[in-house]
Amino acid sequence: MSASPLLDIRPEDLAVAFDPATAHLGDRPTVRRHLADLRESFADRAACDVVLANENPLLYEVTAVEPAGGDGQLHYGLGILYPGRVGDEYYLTKGHYHSHRPAAEVYVGLRGEGGMLLEDEATGESRFVPLRRNTIVYVPGHTAHRTVNTGSEPLAYLGIYPANAGHDYGAIAERNFRKIVVEREGKPTVVDRR
Ligand code: F6R
Ligand code: MN
Repeated sequence: MSASPLLDIRPEDLAVAFDPATAHLGDRPTVRRHLADLRESFADRAACDVVLANENPLLYEVTAVEPAGGDGQLHYGLGILYPGRVGDEYYLTKGHYHSHRPAAEVYVGLRGEGGMLLEDEATGESRFVPLRRNTIVYVPGHTAHRTVNTGSEPLAYLGIYPANAGHDYGAIAERNFRKIVVEREGKPTVVDRR
C-alpha cells in the first residue's frame, strides 16, 4: 500500500452494489458450502449421512470484497445462509477464529432470522445472540463465531473485519463449538454438545 490508499484501491472496490436476495457482489467469486463440506460441523453425523445419501444441499454462500490491504484497511463479506435442519440442528456456517486473534468483526443483519454462536477461546464460555434484519452483532477478538439460521427464509448478513484478520478453521475442525442450536418444541434452543 502506498501513501495514497484511495488511489491504490480499484474503483470497483470503492462502491459495490449488493442484493440481499443473493450473496453475489458484482463478478467477484462466490464460495459455496454444501452439506458434505459441513459433515464434521453437525452434532448428528448419522442424520447428516441420511441426507447425504440422497442429496448434497447448498447451505450457504459468501462473497468477499478484499481491497488492497495494509495496516488499518478493512475487508468484508456478504453471506447468505439458507434455512433448514440436519436432524434437529439448524443450518450453520463452519465457524472460525481469526488467525490474527485480536481481530474483531461487525456483522450487520440484512434479511432473515437467526443468530450467532460466539465462543471465547480462553474460557470456552459462549453466547448466542440474535442476527436478523436491522441487528448489528459485535464479535470481539479471540472469539470463535458461527452463524445459525433459525428461521424459514434465507439469512443474509454482512461481516466487516480487519484486512489482516485471516481465517483459522483448524481449531474449530478439531474441537467444534461447545454449544449447538436445535429445535425443541418448535423453538430454537441452545444446548451442550454431547
Ligand atoms: C469473515 C466472516 C464471515 C464468514 C461467513 C462464512 O471473517 O466471519 O464473512 O466468513 O459467515 O462463515 P465461515 O467462514 O465460517 O464458513
Ligand atoms: Mn470472521
